[in-house]
Parts: sequence; structure tokens; C-alpha cells
Amino acid sequence: MRIFLDTANIDQLKQAAKLGIVSGVTTNPSLVSKEGMADYQAVIREICSIIPGPVSAEVLDTEAQAMIKQAHNIAKWAPNVVIKIPATSDGLEATSALAKDNIKVNFTLCFSLNQALLGALAGATYISSFVGRLDDAGHNGMELVKDIVDVLKYYELPTQVIAASIRHPLHCVAAAKAGAHIATVPFSILVQMIQHPLTDIGVARFLADWQRVFQP
Ligand code: E4P
Repeated sequence: MRIFLDTANIDQLKQAAKLGIVSGVTTNPSLVSKEGMADYQAVIREICSIIPGPVSAEVLDTEAQAMIKQAHNIAKWAPNVVIKIPATSDGLEATSALAKDNIKVNFTLCFSLNQALLGALAGATYISSFVGRLDDAGHNGMELVKDIVDVLKYYELPTQVIAASIRHPLHCVAAAKAGAHIATVPFSILVQMIQHPLTDIGVARFLADWQRVFQP
């Protein structure tokens, strides 16, 4: 399973990039507006320069033709940009058209197997299944991720499944077990994925033992 960073925060992206394990980025209008950066194009271009992998930028229209037009424009911002299109009827129409034009789509806000299957049939490169939001609504978000992975595999559809709306490190464990191709994680959760108290205790003990003998 690959790790994408789910943020538009430039400092976090720069910090995470140094770890060498982040292979892409997902943003959405909420994440970009949270950073208070008004120039959408400039933000996405900067993110694309920090992380050379796929960077998802979402359209801000809801009607198919308007989404297609905006997607074509966003696609020119950087070679690694991926267009996030919502899993609506208009979104499906836009995804099919964009896929035919070889523009990569992240079919987002997927909350059902049907939405994911249709997005894959439309030619989306990625499907984003929102785990945390489904959990919040009293459903099992990770069960859906597993179902999508299984069905796409069964029908040999090449679309990759992104476990999105990740809320805690155990979501990442479950996403990996469910066979998600990618988990897109907020920076705070990436930090939690790395940390373990026994690792910190172990490092401190090793250093203390060493210093007792060699630097008394
Ligand atoms: C990523 O593609 C999604 O937009 C993001 O994971 C949504 O997360 P949230 O449900 O915590 O807002």
C-alpha cells in the first residue's frame, strides 16, 4: 500500500517529503481553504513541485461540461496533477470524457460499491472511498474499501483504490489489510504511524548502555 499525504499545508508536505515514503498528495477545497491561500493554481503548482507523484486537485463546479472545462485547465498546471471529480451523475459524465482525453481522474466522495464500480467503468485512475465519514454515519467504511478492492480485482479493472477520510493509525492498518492500493493520510496520522513508545525506550536504553561503557 502506498501513502499519500492528505493536506494542502506546505510545511507539512516539505517535512513529510524528507521521509521518502510519500508518493502522492490529495487535496480538497476544504483543505486548501483551511490554509487561507487564495491562489488555487499557485498552491497546487507548489505542492506538485514538492511531491513529484500524483497530486489531486478538485474541481469547483458541479455541472458536467463546466467540470470538464475546469479539469482541462487544472490539468495544465503541472504534469503530475490529477483531477478530483465527485461521484455524481455529472461527475461520471465528466470522468468518462476526461478519461478519453487521457486526463487522470480521482473519482472522489465515494460511499458505495456502485459509485466506485461506475467510476472505474468510466475510466477513473483512482477511486477515493471515504472511510471516516462512513464510520461517522454508522457504517463500516473499511468493509467498503475491501469490497471495492475485491470487485475491481475480480473484473480486472485497473482503477486504484484510495482509502480516504482516514482518522487514526488503525485505519491505515485496516486499509493495508483490506488491500487498498493507497491510504491518503493527514500529517498528524503519518507521525502517529511512525511512532512507537517501545522504539523510543529501546533507543534510550541502547544509548545509555553504550555511554555507560564507552563514555563514562
Ligand atoms: C481526500 O481525498 C479526502 O478529501 C479527505 O480524506 C477527506 O477527509 P475528511 O473526511 O477527514 O474531511
